[in-house]
Amino acid sequence: MGRTVVIVGTQWGDEGKGKVVDLLTDRAGAVVRFQGGHNAGHTLVIGDRKTVLHLVPSGAMREDVACVIGNGVVLSPSALMDEISKLESGGVKLRHRLFISDACPLILPYHVAVDKAREQKSGRNAIGTTGRGIGPAYEDKVGRRAVRVGDLLNESELRAKVEAALDFHNFMLKNYYVSDSVDVEAVIDGALQAAEQIRPMVDDVPARLRAYREQSVPLLFEGAQGALLDIDQGTYPYVTSSNTTAGGACTGSGIAPSAIDYVLGIAKAYATRVGAGPFPTELTDGIGRHLASEGNEFGATTGRPRRCGWLDAVALKRAVGLNGVSGLCITKLDVLDKVERIKICVAYRLNGADIEAPPSGAAALARCQPVYEELPGWMSPTVGVRKLDDLPAKARSYLDRVQALAQTPVHMISTGPEREDVIVISHPFG
Ligand code: IMP
Repeated sequence: MGRTVVIVGTQWGDEGKGKVVDLLTDRAGAVVRFQGGHNAGHTLVIGDRKTVLHLVPSGAMREDVACVIGNGVVLSPSALMDEISKLESGGVKLRHRLFISDACPLILPYHVAVDKAREQKSGRNAIGTTGRGIGPAYEDKVGRRAVRVGDLLNESELRAKVEAALDFHNFMLKNYYVSDSVDVEAVIDGALQAAEQIRPMVDDVPARLRAYREQSVPLLFEGAQGALLDIDQGTYPYVTSSNTTAGGACTGSGIAPSAIDYVLGIAKAYATRVGAGPFPTELTDGIGRHLASEGNEFGATTGRPRRCGWLDAVALKRAVGLNGVSGLCITKLDVLDKVERIKICVAYRLNGADIEAPPSGAAALARCQPVYEELPGWMSPTVGVRKLDDLPAKARSYLDRVQALAQTPVHMISTGPEREDVIVISHPFG
C-alpha cells in the first residue's frame, strides 16, 4: 500500500511547508490541499526560479504529480484562474492533472468586501486577515448559503444561489458596515466566465482518493497556515477560519482517518506570526529585526512584515499532540547561524505560576510571560548542509533539545531555500 502523509504547520504558518511538500513530492503520486484558500503562500525555489503558490497544491512543479483541491478549501475562481495562467506562462501545464472537489465553497467578490469592511470596522480589534474573503466564505459554508464549485456547472442554480447570498450580504454591507454593495450581475458574469475553464477540472475527490488508495498511489496532504491558527485549537479569535490541524485532512478531502500513515510537523527554528494576536516569545529588539532580515520574513501573500521571536516549545508540544506528529521537520535553521545566545521558551508564567501547557484563548495567552532556557549559538554557517554529521555540534544540541521538549523526533532539517538544501534523517514515505 502506498503511504499517506499529512504535512502541517506547527506554529502560525509560514513554516516553509511549500518547500518541503515540493521536495517530498518526488515520492508522491498526488498532492492534496484540504483547507484554507489563497490566503496561503507557499514559496518554492527551483534552480533560479521562485514560484509562490497560493491555491494550487505544491505538487504543481512536478509534471507527473496530480494536484487535488479538496472540499475543505474555499476557492476563489478568479484567483485560481490567475494562478493557473501564471504557471502556464512559466511553462507549467496543470489543467489535465488538477482535480477540484465540487463541494468547495466559492470565494466571490462579496466575501472580499465583507472581510475588508469588517476589518475596517473592528479598528484596534482587527484580526489582521489577509483580506482574501476567507472568513466570510467559511461563514457561508456553515451558514448553509455557500455557492459551491458544483453550482458553477448550472447557470440557473448559480444565479439563484448568488442572488440569495447577496441579498443577505448586501444588506449587511449597506446597513451594518455602511459600505458599498456588490453588483449581482458582475458577480454572476465573473463566476460564469471562470466556470467554463473550471468545468473540466471538477471532480468527485473522495472517490478519486479512494481509487488512488486502491492503486497504492502515495498521497501527500498539504496543510496551509499552522496549528496555532486553527479555528478550534488556535489562539482564538486571532485565527484563520479553517481546521489547520491534521484532522482537517480527513474532513477537508474525504480521506478516512485510518488511511493516514504519517504526519510531518513543520516548525521553523524560531517563530513568526503575521497579523494580530498574542505571541508570547515575540522579539521587538535587534534580535527580532535580525531574524526578520536573515529569514526574509515578509508575508508571501500580503507582503506584510512578519513578527519574529524565539521558538516556543510550549506551543510546539501542544501542536505535536493536536496533530499526532510522527516526526518534525525543522526549517530555516541557518537563520540562527549568527545568533550568539539562542533562547527556547520552555514554560509560561501566568499569575505567578509556571505552566507547561498553553491556556485556552487569546486573552489568557496574552498575559503569559515566556520562561526561557538559553543555549549557545553555533556561530558558523549551516546553509545548504545536507548531512547531519556536517552540522556544528551546537546546532545538533539545539535540535536535540527541541525534540526533547516537543517530545517527538526531528526527522528532517531544511537548511536553505533550494529543493536540495535538506537533511533527511527519516523519510516520511519510508
Ligand atoms: P485569514 O485567513 O485571511 O482570515 O486571516 C486570519 C489570520 O490568519 C491572520 O492573522 C492572517 O495573518 C493569518 N494567516 C492566514 N493565512 C496565513 C498564511 O498562509 N501564513 C501565515 N498567516 C496566515
